[in-house]
Amino acid sequence: MKKIEAIIQPFKLDEVKEALKGIGIDGMTISEVRGHGRQKGHKEVYRGQEYYVDLLPKIKIELVIPSGRSEEVIQTLAGSAKTGKIGDGKIFVYDVAEAVRIRNDDRGDLAL
Ligand SMILES: Nc1ncnc2c1ncn2[C@@H]1O[C@H](COP(=O)(O)OP(=O)(O)OP(=O)(O)O)[C@@H](O)[C@H]1O
Ligand SMILES: [Mg+2]
Repeated sequence: MKKIEAIIQPFKLDEVKEALKGIGIDGMTISEVRGHGRQKGHKEVYRGQEYYVDLLPKIKIELVIPSGRSEEVIQTLAGSAKTGKIGDGKIFVYDVAEAVRIRNDDRGDLAL
């Protein structure tokens, strides 16, 4: 299994969620986070306003998926989150050792 962690622009969340739904991804965790990339100290635009602060609001999406779907999910995420401007975000991929559905003790891919 793989864990996909994507940091995206908050205004892209609905579009990204729809795109993931479209390829049959069910489980996900969403958090409101703050961060910066390599433009630290430079301005970025958020909801039409220019910010000079270091840490901008972003959304973190975490998905655990069968390993074989990794490339498809990365492409769907990147395609739906992209504007082509700075601050679009990043995708990080991790190996996952185990997953357990607490209700019935399903394990691995079955638990996703
Ligand atoms: N190396 C990193 N480690 C952890 N989080 C990161 C890293 N780079 C970016 N992020 C997170 O992703 C968000 C968006 O990053 P961003 O898209 O601005 O990256 P970038 O490298 O500056 O690329 P760009 O030049 O396209 O803006 C950041 O606000 C931060 O939350
Ligand atoms: Mg940046």
